[in-house]
Formats: sequence, structure tokens, C-alpha cells
Amino acid sequence: MGKQVVLLPGDGVGKEIMQSAKVILEAISNEYGYSFTFHEHSIGGDAIDKYGVPLPQQTVEACKEADAILLGAVGGPKWDNISAHNRPEKGLLGIRKEMGLFANLRPIKGINALLSASPLKEEFIKNSDILIIRELTGGLYFGEPSERRDNGNSVVDTLFYRRDEMERIIDKAFQQAMKRSKHLTSVDKANVLESSRLWREVVEEKRQEYPEVEVEHLLVDAAAMKLITQPNAFDVIVTENLFGDILSDEASVLTGSLGMLPSASMREDHVGLYEPVHGSAPDITGKGIANPLGMILSTAMMLRHSFQMDEAATEIERAVNYVLDLGYHTPDLAKIGQKAITTKEMTDLIVDHI
Ligand code: NAI
Ligand code: MG
Repeated sequence: MGKQVVLLPGDGVGKEIMQSAKVILEAISNEYGYSFTFHEHSIGGDAIDKYGVPLPQQTVEACKEADAILLGAVGGPKWDNISAHNRPEKGLLGIRKEMGLFANLRPIKGINALLSASPLKEEFIKNSDILIIRELTGGLYFGEPSERRDNGNSVVDTLFYRRDEMERIIDKAFQQAMKRSKHLTSVDKANVLESSRLWREVVEEKRQEYPEVEVEHLLVDAAAMKLITQPNAFDVIVTENLFGDILSDEASVLTGSLGMLPSASMREDHVGLYEPVHGSAPDITGKGIANPLGMILSTAMMLRHSFQMDEAATEIERAVNYVLDLGYHTPDLAKIGQKAITTKEMTDLIVDHI
């Protein structure tokens, strides 16, 4: 019956790169005999235009039936003046919440052809291969109360976590560490924060279940420094929401381009939502030159994490590296080569090499 995949192209270049994801999946199904059924739905500004809301009920229902979800990007200047509770971004936050997606996985891998485009020295980043796992549903971003007090002269935000929220994300991290090099770095601020001390306790308990995994605890300030001075010292990193937000953006500079980075949002089972890290890129929308690689690498993550099609996922990653090594690139990667090509040409080249 095949895998049911919901496609949420969204806005701006989201629509253009979603086309690439489809073409790649068709190539994979031809090559490996897998079958995928696509169900396309609206989200973000696109859904506001069609249905008046950023997350229509039929989109939510389709996602709940799906084996996995691919998302392009949401937002853009057209919807900037819409009231806060109905903005395109609410579509993305809403679907993560509706689906119970609590773990954000962001792989950051030094791609050979891009090393010279990074602001960091090549020798530091050459073999870096990191997976950052960030908790998505708790912590400072959601804790109550969060309000102004004293006529606006004081303020409170709340860092709240339950033990079970920590257990499930930390367990996910150990599972990923088992599939990689069995090295896990847990990042916290246990010298100051009570929440971090509970986090550490939970990591210490969980490691009994995964005796093969080597565990290291690191304070977030030290981790921020080490990420750019010694990125090779990391494999899997797990941390709470706020620290993960900051560290994953910091780590993204290792690879040198926003258009290249994939991500996944997962829960306990294998259902996940996969999307490139970048936004809707309104400045280049409609020109046919968006870099499809972040979307294509997100599609590879879907094959690996939702469908256990590891070989096909690795094949896509290999083809991406190969085409970049040949000197081809979309205009955003102008620093890496001489052969600038369009979104469609890049996609077709990758298909040729799968
Ligand atoms: P952006 O990521 O859309 O663009 C930043 C810069 O990177 C632009 O110069 C853009 O042309 C370039 N860029 C991004 N993706 C690219 C690609 N695939 N190929 C080539 N170049 C690429 O961030 P920006 O401009 O801050 O936000 C634009 C809109 O996207 C806003 O409405 C924002 O809220 C939304 N956004 C949505 C996200 C999502 O859907 N997950 C994430 C970030 C922003
Ligand atoms: Mg961020």
C-alpha cells in the first residue's frame, strides 16, 4: 500500500523546492521499488488566502493519517500585517503541537565542497558530523506565568519541565546515539538552574538502559564555545528548548549555507515532519533559483527516520555531495564553484546520480 506522505509546500520558495522533493522521491521509488502516495495540503499564508486560517482542519486531519509530512516554508511580506494569532507561522507551530512532535533533529555535516564557504577554518570543520536534538514543547517558551508586572517595570518568564518530558527527549537522544558513534553530549546549566539538575538526573538514569553509550555533560556556555573551536568533539547533542534553539543556529554556520540544512520534528513513534531550516525566501521567490538541497536532504531524513530506508537516504546524500563536488551550485552558493544552475537543473542532476 506504500507510504502515505503529506506535502505541505506552504509559501514562497516552499512551493518550488517541494517540487524537487517529489521528483527525488519518484527517482527513489523507481530505483528501489518503494511506493509513495502524495497528499498535498495548504498551510501558512497559502492557507490564509484559501481558507482564512493558517492551519485548516483538513490539513490537520490529513497529517494525522500520514506516515510522514514534508513541509516547504511558511510566511512572507504579504501576510506581515495580519494579527499575531493568525499569522502564517502559527500554521507551523500548530501542526507540531497537533501532531505531538517534541524532538527537533538537526544534523550538521561538513560538506566537502562547502568547506571553503564557511567563515570557520577548514581544518576545524572538515570532518564535523553533529546531530543536535532539541526539546520542542517545554521550557521557557511555553512556561506560565509569562507576563509584565508592576506597571510593566518587572517581568517574569517561567522555565517549566515535567520529568516525563525530559525522559522522552533524552531517550530519543540515546536511541540516535546508538545508531551513530555511541557518544552523547548532554547540555545544561546545572551549576545554576534547578531544571538542569533534574535534567542531569534523568540523563544519569537513562544511561543505565544504554550502557554502550559514552555520556558527557557540558554546561551550555562551554558547549557554545566548543562547538566552533572543536566541532569534531561532538556527535549527538541533546538539550532543552532554549539552549537547543541557540546552539542549533550557532552550529548551522559550520556548513556555510542556510539553503543546505535539513531538519526533522519527531515523537516516540516513527511519524515525523521534515523541513529545511530556511524560510520562504521572498527575495528570490518565482525566479526558479532556490537551493533545493535543504529540502532534498530533509526528504532523505524522512526516508531514514520515518521509513527505515537507510540505504536510499544515504544514496540521496551521496548524490548531493557528488553533484556539489562536480562544481554545480545554485546562486546562493556562488562562493563554491563556477557552474551556477537553477532549482530544476540541480534536482535533475541529483536524480541522474541516484
Ligand atoms: P529566509 O530563510 O527566508 O531567507 C534568508 C536569506 O536566505 C534570504 O536572502 C534568502 O533568499 C536566502 N535563502 C533562504 N532559503 C534559501 C534557499 N533555499 N535557496 C537560496 N537562498 C535561500 O529568512 P527570512 O528572509 O528572515 O524570512 C522570510 C520569511 O520566511 C518570513 O516570513 C519568515 O517568518 C519566514 N520563515 C519561515 C520559516 C519556516 O517556514 N520554517 C523559518 C524562517 C523564516
Ligand atoms: Mg532559531
